[in-house]
Amino acid sequence: MIFSKIKGVGSYLPKKVLTNKDLEKTLDTTDEWITSRTGIKERHIVGSDEQTSDLAFEAAKKAISNADISTEEIDLIIVATTTPDKIFPSIACNVQTKLGIKNCPAFDIQAVCSGFIYGLSIADKFIKTQSAKNILVIGADSMSKITDYTDRSNAILWGDGGGAVILSSSDQQGILSTHIHADGQHEELLHVPNNNIKNKIKQTITMQGSQVFKIAVNTLDKIVDEALEANNLQKKDIDWLVPHQANIRILEATAKKLQMSMDKVIVTIDRHGNTSAASIPLALDEGIISGKIKPGHLILMEAFGGGFTWGSALIRF
Ligand SMILES: CC(C)(COP(=O)(O)OP(=O)(O)OC[C@H]1O[C@@H](n2cnc3c(N)ncnc32)[C@H](O)[C@@H]1OP(=O)(O)O)[C@@H](O)C(=O)NCCC(=O)NCCS
Repeated sequence: MIFSKIKGVGSYLPKKVLTNKDLEKTLDTTDEWITSRTGIKERHIVGSDEQTSDLAFEAAKKAISNADISTEEIDLIIVATTTPDKIFPSIACNVQTKLGIKNCPAFDIQAVCSGFIYGLSIADKFIKTQSAKNILVIGADSMSKITDYTDRSNAILWGDGGGAVILSSSDQQGILSTHIHADGQHEELLHVPNNNIKNKIKQTITMQGSQVFKIAVNTLDKIVDEALEANNLQKKDIDWLVPHQANIRILEATAKKLQMSMDKVIVTIDRHGNTSAASIPLALDEGIISGKIKPGHLILMEAFGGGFTWGSALIRF
């Protein structure tokens, strides 16, 4: 039987750091409010000369090196992003060029904060149908480029970064299941409207935060049950929760549902904020580098985001 297994992980954060104290200088907010309502202390922000493709490329290089494969062995590139450098070409094509490889298919997908789980799910199917052997799956976003820094309910949340994995065919168990979903009916609760202000298009995130919060918590509860039931596993079997990082209170609610102590949750939100499609691979990489996540561990990844979209991946690392 053919399985798809994560062979290498890499991540990258831009150098510039925006702290809550920095935001206090320009917004009617406080470090205390942001920390207690979101868990965020600081986030990384791209410089004026940096693009999402740069974050994707830097993360990809590390994942390829950690997987110990050559770039020529990559036979598909999938990038999950909501903030591409241009409408087209895709970031995936851009990364392919930067890596110096040709001919393999490369495409972007857009499922906002669930994008990385969507990407893993697609890559898993390519491997299990023997259509690819080594797939570069990247989640990268520059959310600062679509954030209105005069809106205190949004400016505090978002950060920039990139994370990547090499998913390879293997005779050992890796991805046990992926589940992905969408429901487009609540678009107005979280979206980037096309506001034409004085003939200048201003595209920034609009969110009804408390309503999104409630739907996210309820949906994530169901994701956990769905993943466990599909694999005939119990809550206690999970070694690590590697969640999308939107709000520490959402992470705590999911951990409670899993009857899991927060010690078993990889938390990066305090330093990264919400980096959308990048947040799960960034957290995964941090879990590995810190020595917490080890080969053989069972990991549940889950995400909820704009669309709405949501999903999970249960992985034997
Ligand atoms: C955005 C979020 C942090 C706001 O926290 P909240 O506890 O729901 O706060 P509310 O939006 O109900 O606002 C409560 C009050 O705080 C105020 N407030 C909002 N942002 C503030 C800030 N940065 N500093 C100080 N006060 C703020 C509001 O104006 C409101 O004031 P009012 O009661 O006088 O009207 C939270 O709702 C959230 O994280 N939502 C989900 C995020 C998410 O999952 N996003 C996308 C999925 S990827």
